[in-house]
Amino acid sequence: LARGVAEPDLAGRHVVVSAGGTREPLDPVRFLGNRSSGKQGYALARTAAARGARVTLVAANTGLPDPAGVDVVPVGTAVQLREAVLKAAADADAVVMAAAVADFRPAVYAAGKIKKQDGQDPEPVALIRNPDILAEISADRPRAGQVVVGFAAETDDVLANGRTKLRRKGCDLLVVNEVGERKTFGSEENEAVVLGADGSETPVPHGPKEALADVVWDLVAARLG
Ligand code: CTP
Ligand code: CA
Repeated sequence: LARGVAEPDLAGRHVVVSAGGTREPLDPVRFLGNRSSGKQGYALARTAAARGARVTLVAANTGLPDPAGVDVVPVGTAVQLREAVLKAAADADAVVMAAAVADFRPAVYAAGKIKKQDGQDPEPVALIRNPDILAEISADRPRAGQVVVGFAAETDDVLANGRTKLRRKGCDLLVVNEVGERKTFGSEENEAVVLGADGSETPVPHGPKEALADVVWDLVAARLG
């Protein structure tokens, strides 16, 4: 629901939102990254604050200005994002993982810049898995009754993949949107379906990221009772 003046229905609540995309360093000047802009996470943080919540925004490489009245914790890598989210989640009523967390990181970090050698092919980059923060928090809630929300960007079989992912992650809500070359990344608008572990399906028509954020908080508020 887009609201003119928000009702303070999240007053007294602490919510944690992760936003942006992690960067996994290869050496001091290079990283593996992704195209997440952080805008959806910032919209979630702004709307939660407007609805009266205390908000911790764990921001990975967004370059966006800090939203007013929000506690921003900047991070770089998936491992740093995990630390910051787990710390803030200890007393949180809800955790929303809007960040694009790198699934893998380079197995080795080179302390000095990697140099090319004349006439030699490059070394392959070995990768290792990052921790799955959403699955970890869903399985082992830092606080009883905490509502946990994930995001999934899918390119094909959006709803079927979303249902499978919701079950696999064990979260309460999964916001699924379809992405492609021109869709969603960096845009001001979004279109999604919010899947509930209770079997519910809430379509959100194409519109501002704030509108999707408000639907997420409506569904979270309903689950907080
Ligand atoms: N996520 C996470 N930790 C990771 C990877 C993802 O917490 N290491 C969270 C994201 O923040 C998001 C949700 O999990 O809320 C879904 O991310 P997605 O990349 O779609 O899920 P994956 O399980 O990584 O599946 P895929 O193989 O499709 O990338
Ligand atoms: Ca992933």
